[in-house]
Amino acid sequence: MNPPVLSIRNLSVSNRRTKQPSAVVQQISFNLNPGEVLAVVGESGCGKTKTAEAIMGLLPRDGWSVQADAIELDGSDLAKLPESGLRRVRGRKISMIFQEPLTALDPVFTAGNQLASIFRRHRGKTRSEAYQCSMEMLSKVGFADTRNVLKSYPHQLSGGMRQRVMIAMAMACRPRVLIADEPTTALDVTTQAQVLDQLTRLGQEYGTSILLITHDPGVVAQYCDRALVMLEGRIVEDANVRDLFARPQHDYTRRLLASVAGVGSG
Ligand SMILES: Nc1ncnc2c1ncn2[C@@H]1O[C@H](COP(=O)(O)OP(=O)(O)OP(=O)(O)O)[C@@H](O)[C@H]1O
Ligand SMILES: [Mg+2]
Repeated sequence: MNPPVLSIRNLSVSNRRTKQPSAVVQQISFNLNPGEVLAVVGESGCGKTKTAEAIMGLLPRDGWSVQADAIELDGSDLAKLPESGLRRVRGRKISMIFQEPLTALDPVFTAGNQLASIFRRHRGKTRSEAYQCSMEMLSKVGFADTRNVLKSYPHQLSGGMRQRVMIAMAMACRPRVLIADEPTTALDVTTQAQVLDQLTRLGQEYGTSILLITHDPGVVAQYCDRALVMLEGRIVEDANVRDLFARPQHDYTRRLLASVAGVGSG
């Protein structure tokens, strides 16, 4: 079997601001394999987002302490990189999309500006090449009228459209790993399905492994190969999705999955 794309060893995250430093992620370890869609599930507050932010190196050092034996991306340890090195890796080899795309998009620039700047900065494209690449990327995430989207400011787009622009930006450099943190929770059910379809299809096309954070066991069943179940900062179960639904090992997993009627029963 091929080596994992991302390998996390004993990652802990603690809040420095509380009186007693409190660990919100405790000694978790897991692998993300090539081409895999790996779910991270668990109730609100269990540490999913903090795990993602720690891997990306996005947690401010004055507020949070991150400890890990290794955060290996393609064999090189991100935990040992200085901020400058991390900046080179972020967006290019590993990227992240967030729950609410309005906060991640800059309100004063058009979608086209923001997308094109990625092609110019990370991939050395000229202005007109970057424009061309941006149009292609937007059609890959399902836009028909790409010219119009390029000219739009974030507030002029619907939630689903904004999230698709975010996917286009995150996937522009064909990263090895995409971390998608509840990318569709803010969207209606139909749009949710379209966005997840596009996301996972593009992942396959580009050979990008996906860490998909979700509350929704239905999303796990439909889109993921394997799942990590988190409870209070720890991983309590790591299983492929078929086994997870057929033979959940942990009580908590059983309760979590019971919320999707019919899946895995019988
Ligand atoms: N800015 C913050 N300041 C203090 N504590 C925080 C902060 N952000 C998160 N926490 C704490 O860290 C823990 C983990 O938070 P995290 O955001 O990773 O949870 P989550 O699993 O992503 O939840 P959700 O499903 O609601 O997004 C929570 O218990 C929360 O109380
Ligand atoms: Mg979260």
